[in-house]
Formats: sequence, structure tokens, C-alpha cells
Amino acid sequence: MVILAHYYQEADIQDIADFIGDSLGLAQQAEKTDADMILFAGVHFMAETAKILNPTKKVLIPDLKAGCSLSDSCPPELFKKFKDEHPDHLVITYINCSAGMKALSDVICTSSNARILVENYPEDQKIIFAPDRNLGAYLNKTLGRNMVLWNGSCQVHEIFSLEKITKLIQENPDAKFIAHPECEEPILRLADYVASTTGLLKYTINNEATKFIVATEAGILHQMIKASPEKTFIPAPPDNACACNDCPFMKRNTLEKIYLALKYEQPEILMDEELRLAAKKAIDKMLQQSAAAGL
Ligand code: 13P
Ligand code: SF4
Repeated sequence: MVILAHYYQEADIQDIADFIGDSLGLAQQAEKTDADMILFAGVHFMAETAKILNPTKKVLIPDLKAGCSLSDSCPPELFKKFKDEHPDHLVITYINCSAGMKALSDVICTSSNARILVENYPEDQKIIFAPDRNLGAYLNKTLGRNMVLWNGSCQVHEIFSLEKITKLIQENPDAKFIAHPECEEPILRLADYVASTTGLLKYTINNEATKFIVATEAGILHQMIKASPEKTFIPAPPDNACACNDCPFMKRNTLEKIYLALKYEQPEILMDEELRLAAKKAIDKMLQQSAAAGL
């Protein structure tokens, strides 16, 4: 049995995991594991991806209700209509989506490999990018593309307060402001560095700055502090009374639920075989293209 955990999990869960990573790292671990059983401490689409790659293994998730607002913002039935309205377009889909959406896609990407995967296609290739409009707009802007965007978003990354972050940056001129590309454009425009959770973590390790304002889910700070205990990390504040930003779906998982999931070997991710095979094609393409790019 192997425990795979995303950086947005509670610190105590990260500390018992066999592997902690971002969405791409976790998918790669799921692909190569030889364990009989995977416990996925993350959200549903992540555990589903692990099952798509491992049909004969038992894949457990501590809480079946650990969903994702971004995934929910793109129901496959509605997307199918949208896709039919753009018949000559290739579909690149962010991994934060259901198996039904993956089955409608040509290739899956994550925040670690999205740039590389989009750049693999010629500039005149018509592309639909779904479901995250912020990541899609960021790619269009930085790569000079004109991809058609699905209007979806992550509630956690859209709630950051531009006003409070601007104030924090002014009060901490020595700090680097770093952000996840699921954040909105005005936030990304302020950022010194934009990357996936693994990219942000590496940046804080390798950059000579000793203070960082971090605009993504606050769970990542646990690994940042562990890797660089001498540095200061300030979670970027959301537009509400909280000081930092937690994903309510990721935080449904607890150590107790993990213990019970391992004891009873459930809740288990189950999937229709036809759907699994249809979704697997686009994930395989992502994994192949990522490996070819050295990711
Ligand atoms: P990454 O894991 O690619 O950094 O994405 C963050 C996220 O929102 C996962 O749900
Ligand atoms: Fe979904 Fe956003 Fe939570 Fe990630 S942080 S699981 S994208 S709701």
C-alpha cells in the first residue's frame, strides 16, 4: 500500500505520506507504483486519475465528498455541446476535471506542464482550453496564443484579495510574491514568479530571498517551512476574515479518515471500464509528452 498526498493536505497527513507532490508528480507516482493498493490523500479527480492508470489496483480516498469547485465548473454534458460548436478544435484539459471530461479531451495537462504541452502544438492549431479560465488566460498571454477558454475557475484561487496583497507587498519590499496560475490575472500581474505548487516550492528553496508571500492554498507552506526553516513565509490573504486560504475539499481528509479507509479498505474509487479507457488516452498522452520534455 502506498499513500500519495497533495501539498494541500493537512501537515499531519503530509508527514505520513509515502510521496507528496503536485498534480503531475502524483499522477507520475500513481503510474509507476507497484503497490497493490493506493490511498490517495487528495481530491476525487486525483484519486480517479490514479484509478484510470491502475485498473487492477484498489484506489482508496479518505472522503468521497472531497470534490473540487474547478472540476464541478465543467460538467461533461455541457462541455460536449461547447466542443461540438468548435468542431475543428483540439481539446487541452487541465487535470482538475472529471473522468467524463478527460474522455472528451485530446490531452490532459497540469500547472507544471501546461506551457510545454500547449507549445507542442503549432500556433495555427485551434485549441479549446478547459476548465480553468485563469490558467488558460495566463497561457494565452504568456505564449501569445488565442485558445478558446471554458469559463471555469477554482474558488480557492479566485478569493485572494488584490487590495490586501498589494498592501502586504508594500509593507514587505524584501519579499518575493509568488502565485499559482489558477489565480486571477490582476494577482498574477503582481507576481514575481508564477508556477505549480512544486514549482513554487522549488523557487523558495533556490531563490536567495528570505521572505515570500505565497498565493496558493496554505497547505504548501508546510513543505516550504520544512525545506527552508530560516526563511519567512506569509500566506496571501483572501477577501474574507481569514488570514490564509484553505481548500475546503482538500481539508475534508483527516488522519482519522485515513486510518478508517485503510482499516476497512474503503471508500474505493470504482469506474466504468469504457469510460476509463476513453479517459486514459488523454492522460497517457500527457505523461508521454511530459517524459519527453524531461518533466
Ligand atoms: P498543482 O498540483 O498542479 O500545483 O495544482 C494545484 C491544485 O489546485 C490542485 O487541486
Ligand atoms: Fe479544486 Fe481549487 Fe481545491 Fe484545487 S484548490 S482541489 S482546484 S477547489
